[in-house]
Amino acid sequence: MFMPELLKTVIRELTLREPLARTPEPSQAMEEEDAVAAYANGGRENGALSGAYLYHLAQMCRMVPPGGTVLDLGCGPGNLLGQLAELNPGARFIGADLSQPMLERAAQAFRARGIANAALQCEDMTLLSGIADQSIDLAVSSMAFHHLPDEDALDRAFAQVARVLKPQGTVYFNDFGRLRSAESIRYFVSRAAAGESPALIDDYIHSLHAAFTLQDFQRVAQRHLAGRAQIYATAVSPFTVVLRSPVAMGPASVAPQLQQRFRALPPARKADVRQLALFLRLGGLPSAM
Ligand SMILES: C[S@@+](CC[C@H](N)C(=O)[O-])C[C@H]1O[C@@H](n2cnc3c(N)ncnc32)[C@H](O)[C@@H]1O
Repeated sequence: MFMPELLKTVIRELTLREPLARTPEPSQAMEEEDAVAAYANGGRENGALSGAYLYHLAQMCRMVPPGGTVLDLGCGPGNLLGQLAELNPGARFIGADLSQPMLERAAQAFRARGIANAALQCEDMTLLSGIADQSIDLAVSSMAFHHLPDEDALDRAFAQVARVLKPQGTVYFNDFGRLRSAESIRYFVSRAAAGESPALIDDYIHSLHAAFTLQDFQRVAQRHLAGRAQIYATAVSPFTVVLRSPVAMGPASVAPQLQQRFRALPPARKADVRQLALFLRLGGLPSAM
């Protein structure tokens, strides 16, 4: 059922020249109870976000330095951060978010799961005032930059990343990139919609309309992280953009746990992992699973 739609989306994105105009998110920090709850729920084991999380989790796990400090920008309810901290008990994690309700959700979840190696801080990622210069070994971020109001804010966030990273520090960021048509946005949203709440679906639509372009990411990365990270995007159309520092090849030490999580996903979410892996591989980024 998905293939013909996917094919139509590929053709549409290939034939249109310009990205859609950007519509910023209605609010920067996600604070409304509905949106917070829906987002936290979308991250459950078989939720709409679970396939994308698993793909990026595998990539991030290959980069976590034993004993190192990892900063997650815009950690939200800690859906991905919690998994990363559990799989890497030897490292220390800091989840930074502007939304107090998101941080409270994350704190609750971490307490319930006994995660003791992740601290949570209320931080604006364009300031990172509570994070010391050159204190971070790995900066990660997932699906968060598109919440920033404009390219200046994106630029300030990347400048802060450059400030807080240790000299040998690395990054793994993923976010949506701007598509070329509202039809393509509808296709991607429809893939995730089954069984999900209207609040999560709304949030997804807003996210894809608020995404920065690949060129926006290239400009700010060139300014602040040149030589430290490379940009990858899904082939054909930058539905997903990844900024990653070079890493040693080879599977993560937690590969068996990741494979087990993959096997437990429902078919639609397995398809998300496979499609992300395929289209990012075609865009130059090898899969970590
Ligand atoms: C779509 S959620 C992503 C959450 C999480 N990274 C994930 O992948 O599940 C985006 C998060 O970015 C946060 N955010 C937005 N603007 C921010 C800023 N300037 N500084 C820190 N966090 C911000 C929002 O509050 C929200 O929790």
